[in-house]
Amino acid sequence: MTEPPKTAEPTPAPGPVQGPAPGNPAAESSPRSPAAVRRRATLAGTAVSVLLIIAIVFGSRLLRDFDSALLPYAVATVFLAFGVAYRYTVWISAPGARRLFKQGWRSFFSVANFRKAPTALPKMIATYLGFQKFLGARSHARWAAHQLVFWGCLLAAAITFPLTWGWFTFTSSTGSGPGYEMRIWGFKIIGFDALSVLGWLMFHGLDIAAVLVIAGAAYFLWRRMKDRGAVTGQRFAYDLVPLIALVVVSVTGLLLTFSSIFLHGGGYEFLAILHMVSVVFTLIYIPFGKFFHIVQRPAAVGMQLFKYTSRRKDEEVLTCRRCHEPIDTAPYVENLRGTMRDLDLGFDEWAEYCPRCKRVLRGNAYLDHVKKGFK
Ligand code: HEM
Repeated sequence: MTEPPKTAEPTPAPGPVQGPAPGNPAAESSPRSPAAVRRRATLAGTAVSVLLIIAIVFGSRLLRDFDSALLPYAVATVFLAFGVAYRYTVWISAPGARRLFKQGWRSFFSVANFRKAPTALPKMIATYLGFQKFLGARSHARWAAHQLVFWGCLLAAAITFPLTWGWFTFTSSTGSGPGYEMRIWGFKIIGFDALSVLGWLMFHGLDIAAVLVIAGAAYFLWRRMKDRGAVTGQRFAYDLVPLIALVVVSVTGLLLTFSSIFLHGGGYEFLAILHMVSVVFTLIYIPFGKFFHIVQRPAAVGMQLFKYTSRRKDEEVLTCRRCHEPIDTAPYVENLRGTMRDLDLGFDEWAEYCPRCKRVLRGNAYLDHVKKGFK
């Protein structure tokens, strides 16, 4: 049996220092210092929000198609753009995430990968990002609930974001229908009858989205109250707030439709404010909580592709130094070791052991050096 590497004492890895020593001006101005990362993130956030404002102004034909009643929503999307760009920049400034980001997008845009496996990328986008097939391995119910939330939110975003920005307009030459025209950036896309099935779907798309989201989020909430594993580890702000926010946004949205159809608009104004406040809160919360995975996950598609193509390229597969079972391809293991070196963990050789052997070796070391076990 091969001996584990002698890395009990963390050895300083070559390469730049991660955090600056306090009070050391040279380190504080290093491109990886927290202050420098914050500066970069603020710059990225500002650039993205300014671009969005320009896109809103020009996309709404110099605000001619902009609906001022939707102003609070539009302002919230500008804050959302700032928050997402800020948090994303901070995220990819950490060594592990930066490596994932670089390697992921390099594989994503690689012409060589495309030539070798032209269908791999669209397939991974569909199975990993769109249908999240990997969630089915955890539980079919969690997968189904996530699909409901995912498609419901995508549908709602596809309808509301362009409307809020004044990019979509629905106009009727008679002023009150039933014939309507849908225009994007002023160009006519389709004409439809509000009383037809298409017309119904056009005007009730958000109700459909709300029903999907309520079903999915309600399941997750129920699970978080029943499943002892979930209950033990969950935190209110991180795990429950996103689900409650989704339910509140969807229920208040449905109530608006209910009010206009069944109550002749009774309570509409109050509901509209409640709905707006819940949407604005949810949009601004996206970059800072669990919802951030929506933005992070696409970077992982490239990483999946990297694993897939390095396997297909018949790259050398590394075997565990102890049990000789295959671990992964050499480029993948090297990438992992690189991350561990970047993080100054000082035990990157352990990447050459399979997870089971790592546990066994750790257990043996514990028994040898700390405690002999129960007598
Ligand atoms: C519109 C986009 C999306 C929305 C609104 C959304 C929403 C959610 C919500 C609310 C949860 C929390 C469930 C809970 O913890 O109780 C969740 C969990 C999760 N999401 Fe998403 N998600 C989206 C996109 C994605 C994508 C693209 C992926 C991956 C490719 C993904 C992967 C996951 C995973 C792995 C979990 C944990 C699931 C579990 O614990 O069963 N999500 N998502």
